[in-house]
Amino acid sequence: MKDSSQSVIVVENIKKYYGEVKALDGVSLRVDKGKIYGLLGPNGAGKTTVVRALATLLVPDSGTVTINDVDAVEHPTRVRRMIGLAGQFAAVDDFLTGRETLMMVARLYHVPKKEATKRTNELLRRLSLTDAADRPAKTYSGGMRRRLDLGASLVGRPEILFMDEPTTGLDPRTRQELWQLIRELVAEGRTLLLTTQYLEEADALCDYISIIDRGKVVKQGTATQLKASLGRDVVEVQVADNHHAETLEIMKKISRSKPQIDEMNQAISIRATKGADMLIQLVKELDKANIKPKDISVHRPSLDDVFLSVTGKKPKSISSVKKKRGKK
Ligand SMILES: Nc1ncnc2c1ncn2[C@@H]1O[C@H](COP(=O)(O)OP(=O)(O)OP(=O)(O)O)[C@@H](O)[C@H]1O
Ligand SMILES: [Mg+2]
Repeated sequence: MKDSSQSVIVVENIKKYYGEVKALDGVSLRVDKGKIYGLLGPNGAGKTTVVRALATLLVPDSGTVTINDVDAVEHPTRVRRMIGLAGQFAAVDDFLTGRETLMMVARLYHVPKKEATKRTNELLRRLSLTDAADRPAKTYSGGMRRRLDLGASLVGRPEILFMDEPTTGLDPRTRQELWQLIRELVAEGRTLLLTTQYLEEADALCDYISIIDRGKVVKQGTATQLKASLGRDVVEVQVADNHHAETLEIMKKISRSKPQIDEMNQAISIRATKGADMLIQLVKELDKANIKPKDISVHRPSLDDVFLSVTGKKPKSISSVKKKRGKK
């Protein structure tokens, strides 16, 4: 299906151990030119460690990383010329202004002054930082700092970009703006690998997703494939703690699929080809057992459900906040 010659990022079985901690325990992935690749995982999954290995900031214990057929361990300088990195924590100097920051980075890339000025002005405009361009970065909000950091990763016009949790901590509107910018960057022909803890983000942006947990890839596919792997519908119920065990038994009885337990939302879910039929059956059985559910619903599988089924926990997500709000 995939032509491997198109892959601009190829990671083969990389491992990185810190004593007992297996930060990476054999991760492989391929990213094709012009695509957005999402690395999705909970805290400590190994996302930043992958990004650091790709960006030549870390040498894996074993395995290989190649960028445009160049080995990242053997030729880090050549690789660095092709990539841009926006790290997990915006690395912005407080005392420089936005304009000074971009000019400085451009000069580090040996961009001639006239061209550096042009690129700086263009990026400030694109990142909506023109008005704040001549203020020191210490006066910037979190979202502005992130945008400036992203700008710094773009000054060298890299064809490959790595972004480590680019939208964590941003408000929904700023996040949408950044998504738009990311789409534009890729539409111009760049290849992008980003990490995220937000399922919505992976769903909205990424052509291909790897879910990683405890240093291993636990599932890979397009958002559609990942959702399809769960079957058609998800029936979810929330009951009081004292009815939890009994409800679980009922669900096991009426469904062939294994019930999933979401500890955080105290919900139990099952997959069904005909969710509505399953819902009716469940309601009848719960009624017979005299159990009143706090909440019961049927929905199409979301990436949340995929994530839960492979990692056993849900990450922070807009949908889980919604569900919580719905709870009495
Ligand atoms: N320099 C280090 N020394 C020791 N352990 C480390 C080091 N760097 C990472 N780790 C461990 O490796 C694991 C993976 O860390 P990593 O930072 O890659 O996770 P992550 O997926 O980026 O998490 P987060 O979402 O919190 O950013 C964690 O258990 C972490 O504690
Ligand atoms: Mg990280």
